[in-house]
Amino acid sequence: MPDQWMPPIKWEGEAVAILDQRILPHREKFLLCQTPEQVIRAIKTMAIRGAPAVGVAGALALALGARSIQTEDPKEFRRRFTKICGKVREARPTGANLGWAVQRVHSIVVENPKAKVSELQESILAEANAILKEDIATNVEMGRWGREVVPKGARILTYCNAGALATADYGTALGVIRAAFEADPTLSVYSCETRPFLQGARLTAFELKRAGIPVTLITDNSVGSLMSRGMIDVVIVGADRIAANGDTANKIGTYMVAVLAWTHSVPFYIAAPRSTIDPGLQDGSGIPIEQRDPNEVTNLNGKRIAPQGVSALNPAFDVTPGKYISGIITEVGVLRKPFAKTIRKGLQA
Ligand code: MRU
Repeated sequence: MPDQWMPPIKWEGEAVAILDQRILPHREKFLLCQTPEQVIRAIKTMAIRGAPAVGVAGALALALGARSIQTEDPKEFRRRFTKICGKVREARPTGANLGWAVQRVHSIVVENPKAKVSELQESILAEANAILKEDIATNVEMGRWGREVVPKGARILTYCNAGALATADYGTALGVIRAAFEADPTLSVYSCETRPFLQGARLTAFELKRAGIPVTLITDNSVGSLMSRGMIDVVIVGADRIAANGDTANKIGTYMVAVLAWTHSVPFYIAAPRSTIDPGLQDGSGIPIEQRDPNEVTNLNGKRIAPQGVSALNPAFDVTPGKYISGIITEVGVLRKPFAKTIRKGLQA
């Protein structure tokens, strides 16, 4: 990362500093959240987004919540902390990392029945910071494995933003692209703009440009045309939740890209940490899909583009069946088909 890069989320003093992604790429401003409610609001309004980053934000929100509980009584502390955990867990439904992070931090109070309140508060903060640190290390590992699937001089297509901004730093899909680019500076990236929130146009293009990786922005509906003309060598995207059989939820439109890649024999990879895998879901049919405000579709930059009175549907994610996925790049290696078997083994590694 060049020097001017700032990690998108960190614990600062007694607050959580969050780079406000709603105003990128034009302004780089940090929100200072001092309460779990402020972090929840930042998650819901997409000031911070991307499944792993939301998981990290959730963990840090719990550290804030733990510190705000004014009692010396461990039993009362546990009761109030568990309530905060419930609220944080509900901030966004699709990404698995949030529930995973909340459960991991909550286990501190479950596993330390004899601890004092002050000890629990310190351990909760330490666990949240560990989740943040591990997320970065995990992404670097994913980069190491994932760069092997990128052909020399590849023209890579990515969708949405699965970069440093969507994680604690470095990125999942963009982490793989960063690692591949270090070894092969001839590769280049097509970033889909990603309607309606434009994560590709605003965030992925911003990150790649800053990293010095050649990036060309395309409209989402030009993917088929580019693939049919042989202009894409490999697709690498992130994930929000992966079922036990490899079915994968990611940003709405990913499924469309995957089917096109399958049709044109372009390899299609998911890059995601194991914290995105939900082994409790047999297949993708059970993945909860967040429905967002229709105004995100009918309006652009605060201005209405659709006729008044016209409604819009705005599912934020779709599910790509495992059949269309060539491999899942994780921190323990690239998982191949049959996913039911390799995911189970990967989770045990
Ligand atoms: O709605 P968003 O911007 O949170 O959606 C983000 C994505 O779909 C990403 O691809 C996914 O979270 C993986 S990020 C490493």
